[in-house]
Amino acid sequence: MVKITFVQEDGTRQEVNAEPGLTVMEAAKTEDVPGIEAECGGACACATCHVYVEPEWREAVGPPSEMEEDMLDFAFDVREESRLSCQIRVSDKLDGLVVKVPSKQF
Ligand code: FES
Repeated sequence: MVKITFVQEDGTRQEVNAEPGLTVMEAAKTEDVPGIEAECGGACACATCHVYVEPEWREAVGPPSEMEEDMLDFAFDVREESRLSCQIRVSDKLDGLVVKVPSKQF
């Protein structure tokens, strides 16, 4: 299992154990992490699974694809560290990953 920590605006942390092969969004939904809406179910078509990847994890997570970047244009308060969590595949190298959940998705 791969440990992923979701941090809310107010600093609340929630640890989730994710099966490799799932996406970070799916891991969040399994544990009902607040703020990850994922309206399109992971099709990279809604931008409501937006998260901020903590700086020390950005290299391991990698950059967004072109399609993801286009969809990120619709997200709220997009930053350099923004990613759509449905486009991040959980793997052993992401064990310990920390992402922040935006204050809102739109
Ligand atoms: S769940 Fe819709 S873009 Fe990620």
